Amino acid sequence: MCGFQIAIDGPAGAGKSTIAKKIAAKLNYIYIDTGAMYRALTYTILEKKISIENVDAIINLAENCVIEFRNKDIIINNKKVTEEIRIQQVNEKVSYIAQIAEVRKILVNTQKKIALNNNIVMDGRDIGTIVLPKANLKFFLTASVKERAKRRYNEMKTKNNSIDFNKVLEEIRKRDKIDENRKCSPLARADDAVTIDTTGLNIAEVVDSILITVKDALKDSSV
Ligand code: C5P
Repeated sequence: MCGFQIAIDGPAGAGKSTIAKKIAAKLNYIYIDTGAMYRALTYTILEKKISIENVDAIINLAENCVIEFRNKDIIINNKKVTEEIRIQQVNEKVSYIAQIAEVRKILVNTQKKIALNNNIVMDGRDIGTIVLPKANLKFFLTASVKERAKRRYNEMKTKNNSIDFNKVLEEIRKRDKIDENRKCSPLARADDAVTIDTTGLNIAEVVDSILITVKDALKDSSV
């Protein structure tokens, strides 16, 4: 394996994306938000008005779509969907799409290919366990469900004033439950992952603590 791979997993709102992005920028590594890939597919399913019960049509779409990261944007079939994938309808449906085994197989393959021979920080739910089981370093970020909902609520409130905290809390609980209990590559901590509970910590504190571990590991590696 060439390149240095850092896997960051954890439930919704644990701060993975913000933290992973900062770590990648500091190290000048590629950053891949795998949740954005499941979201882009879900957005396209909604846009095409495909029912989430129509698993065959969903698999067919997954097989025939091209998902790419260009600069800071996520592109599906040449369409930029960076903002669209964060809408409420996508939040509500994405975990249903992500539990389809064939969909996961397709996206996991793409993720493995992107990571090959690259210095990379990848975040998601199954990166340390399934996508990059041999990653050089693995982190599992958690926080209490209330704290995670509060973060999502604050983030969403800047864009939508009418957002309801209890609805956000409910949606996070529902997503956690589906992500943790699905049969195919559920949200799980890899045995060799370092767990960081981010409740009460700010982003800079978590980033600094991860960077210390990374720098130590880099000293011992040939990258
Ligand atoms: O990370 P984010 O909250 O944007 O992910 C959206 C959803 O995509 C998750 O709730 C989960 O259902 C799915 N997902 C996944 N595996 C990943 C990343 C995300 O199942 N590696």
